[in-house]
Amino acid sequence: MNSVTVRVPAKVNLQLAVGPLRDDGYHDLVNVFHAVSIFDEVTATAETGMTVRVEGESADQVPEDGDNLAIRAASALAGHAGRSYGVNLVIRKAIPVAGGMAGGSADAAAALVACNELWGLGLPLEDLMEIAADIGSDVPFALLGGTAVGTGRGERLTPLEVSGTFHWVFALAEGGLSTATVYAECDRLREAGGERVAWPRAAEPLLAALRAGDAEALGAALSNDLQPAAVMLRGSLARTLAAGREYGALGALVSGSGPTCAFLAGSAAHASELAASLKEADVARDVIIAHGPVPGPVPGPVPA
Ligand code: C5P
Repeated sequence: MNSVTVRVPAKVNLQLAVGPLRDDGYHDLVNVFHAVSIFDEVTATAETGMTVRVEGESADQVPEDGDNLAIRAASALAGHAGRSYGVNLVIRKAIPVAGGMAGGSADAAAALVACNELWGLGLPLEDLMEIAADIGSDVPFALLGGTAVGTGRGERLTPLEVSGTFHWVFALAEGGLSTATVYAECDRLREAGGERVAWPRAAEPLLAALRAGDAEALGAALSNDLQPAAVMLRGSLARTLAAGREYGALGALVSGSGPTCAFLAGSAAHASELAASLKEADVARDVIIAHGPVPGPVPGPVPA
């Protein structure tokens, strides 16, 4: 086998409860991840060195050196296998870069799946998950897909039961936000407000809404503790979120560390209407319709 292509979805966080800052610089989380139908594609081709090329949506903002998360993942996998494997990775991006939708993590997960296949390693998902957690807190979920709750840094995952499909509209912003900067701003705001930071807990109404496939209840239960920090750093997001609510979104929130905003619709038709209204209102660089949950990456023919 000379070449393997893997398609990998973006995520939105349905609940992001941020606990106290830990000694290692991370925060303990309750992070409800939900994979949605915006996909990057990674093609791995056998080669002697380790190289990467990035194409598509904001490709110029993604490093093409050893800082690239997909290359870091491929190198870590080769290290785990104890061999000096080589690969050329081509990443075709549709997931917004530094947008709070785990695009870099998705590419790293896709590289693990593609190289595992290309190099004939046959490692089980559990092994890939361990390597993934060292690359980034969101990479294990990017391997799993579907809907899952992450604890610890977000890397300890339990899949969640979900009925039906949820329809989303994503409003993309101009430029990205650094995850570390948004977490630091969250800490700063909490300290300035004299807030006592509670231990994070999964919201029972949110889990019940997912089990029941109840979009209205899910919309009311969406929450993101990073949202005040993202809005503080990017004031224009307040207007984007308000516009979505005004146009009838069942729920509106910043996706992860932002700056992408996510709006929940009641149906595919409602999502189209909401997307058209948001475009018209000119509150986003671009507007994308998607649905979730969708499965995680698997090697093989890419669906049309
Ligand atoms: O794990 P990852 O490299 O994606 O995290 C990026 C940054 O986000 C970390 O350096 C840290 O500042 C912040 N972070 C955090 N707590 C988490 C996950 C990420 O503070 N649970």
